[in-house]
Amino acid sequence: MNILFIGDVVGSPGRDMITHYLPKLKDKYRPQLTIINGENAASGKGITEKIYKQFLDAGAQVITMGNHTWDKKEIFDFIDDAKHMIRPANFPEGTPGKGLTFSNINGTEVAVINLQGRTFLPPLDDPFLIADELIAEAQKRTPIIFIDFHGEATSEKQAFGWYTDGRVSAVVGTHTHTQTADERILPEGTAYISDAGMTGPYDGILGVERETVIKRFLTQLPARFDIDKKGRSQLNGVFIQIDEKTGKAKHIERILINDDHPFFG
Ligand SMILES: [Fe+2]
Ligand SMILES: [Fe+2]
Repeated sequence: MNILFIGDVVGSPGRDMITHYLPKLKDKYRPQLTIINGENAASGKGITEKIYKQFLDAGAQVITMGNHTWDKKEIFDFIDDAKHMIRPANFPEGTPGKGLTFSNINGTEVAVINLQGRTFLPPLDDPFLIADELIAEAQKRTPIIFIDFHGEATSEKQAFGWYTDGRVSAVVGTHTHTQTADERILPEGTAYISDAGMTGPYDGILGVERETVIKRFLTQLPARFDIDKKGRSQLNGVFIQIDEKTGKAKHIERILINDDHPFFG
């Protein structure tokens, strides 16, 4: 099972990168399952139904989210009908949407789970305990389990990777918008990377216009963060190959496309 994951898509620069590069990445990697983190897809804050559908039309099968899930009010109107979208499973009981979905790929099921860390982020339910429950639920149907762990702290993400090693096929970190170079396959067969990075502005700061961010650091005054649309763009993600019978990962590869790391087909 070949899985392509695209890190946090930020605003129109990110969406344009999907339009331009997803077909090329599909040619190169032949993924059967493509997952996009869409928490910043609508002007950096949340996602709209239109963009959700655009991602599906572009060839994604699952959209994951994060701490920006609720930023666009219209999410409440469509999330319960958005079969292919998941939000962190450890949001409080009664929250709209779901945190686990199954994709049927030519008769082979893949479970995709979204969780959010609690270090330097809101105090949600315990992602480790919720993971135990969801992994058990998923394992009844398939050994192929992919987790997008949306977290700020590398330590929490590493702890989660080791905690689930051998029980899931992959743990891919998101949220920091900066790709880490620690991709590996843990000893019991879980593919791991602390952060897949982001897809969108390359010359901003985490996707935001850098002048505003620098001014905020200099003055400590509140500032409106707009997406950088003047600069160049990048695409970050990860490609993972999984043994379908055992659910164990065989290969993990970072994808980094920008002017300093050009794409080779
Ligand atoms: Fe993000
Ligand atoms: Fe985030």
